Amino acid sequence: MANIETRYLGLHLKNPLIASSGPLTRQPGSVAMLEDAGIAAVVLRSIFEEQITAETSSMYAALENETSAFALEYLRADLPGQLGPEEYLRRLDAIRKRVKIPVIASCNCLSKAKWIAYARKIAQTGADALELNLYHMPVDPEETSEQIEARNVDLVRAVINEVKIPIAVKLSYHYTALPAYVRKLDRAGVKGVVLFNRFLQTDVDINRERIFYAPNYSSPNVLHSQLRWAAVLRNFIHADIGISGGIHSGDDLVKALLVGANVGMICSVLHLHPDASRTINQILTRLQEWMVDKGYADLDAFRGKLRETNLHDGRGFERAQYVKAATELFT
Ligand SMILES: Cc1cc2nc3c(=O)[nH]c(=O)nc-3n(C[C@H](O)[C@H](O)[C@H](O)COP(=O)(O)O)c2cc1C
Repeated sequence: MANIETRYLGLHLKNPLIASSGPLTRQPGSVAMLEDAGIAAVVLRSIFEEQITAETSSMYAALENETSAFALEYLRADLPGQLGPEEYLRRLDAIRKRVKIPVIASCNCLSKAKWIAYARKIAQTGADALELNLYHMPVDPEETSEQIEARNVDLVRAVINEVKIPIAVKLSYHYTALPAYVRKLDRAGVKGVVLFNRFLQTDVDINRERIFYAPNYSSPNVLHSQLRWAAVLRNFIHADIGISGGIHSGDDLVKALLVGANVGMICSVLHLHPDASRTINQILTRLQEWMVDKGYADLDAFRGKLRETNLHDGRGFERAQYVKAATELFT
């Protein structure tokens, strides 16, 4: 048997497979089920800024007032599942007491002031780490990417100064210069970077002529972007890397580790198959089998083997591959 123990955010994990924030990481019962199935850690369902300002009962009213279009739709889509701030802490406490695996709390925040106090409560309640879900739709044409990034780095730094537990950040896909931004977060002291969040997909109901948003599940096809960015970022940052998005099999987890991720995270695959325990078992068994087959005794023997190392002039492997692929298409 290969040794698949690892570390993430300074926490010891029995293997590199984490259940990312989602419906199954909301209740003590389902988190215990994930632990029994072999998952190494869980990221709890996020609490949103809008929930900090209003308990669930008054949340509809709060949503109509000051909230981003994204958060509005997100919360509406799943309102019954949303918890108020005190209930979130009670749930965190219950989950922490029920399982032995590391429990990572998660919050989606916009403004610094509210988050500092709440992060302290999350840490006091016993979370092993906190993932800041930085998803934000930049719909304000007056706000530049520099401003948004500076605000986030400032927020992250403030939370890091406030609590002793490790802080990870979960990013969304679209940045003009992701490495520069991630390096700022790294220098601010984040212990982990999660690539990437997957949120509501915009769709159009052509009968009712309405835009609608719905949480939907991923397919393995979405893994490519995470693999690329993990491979690029691995050499630039000290923080751990978690890949979230499109890991559906043991092979996908192996790919994530090969490009330099410390852990792979799963959400959709746990919902797409009826038996979550079996899915987790299959992923971990496949990882073990692959390692034995390749003669790797532990994860460090191959982790990051396929990270990109020739990027310093901005024209290395990445550009070479692009040029090669593009020219082959037209010749
Ligand atoms: C129904 C649903 C709810 C989710 N809720 C959250 C959440 O509260 N916070 C968060 O950071 N990510 C949330 N996610 C995103 C997942 O944690 C994960 O990053 C994303 O689904 C990509 O991973 P996957 O391809 O394994 O599903 C949610 C995803 C789904 C499908």
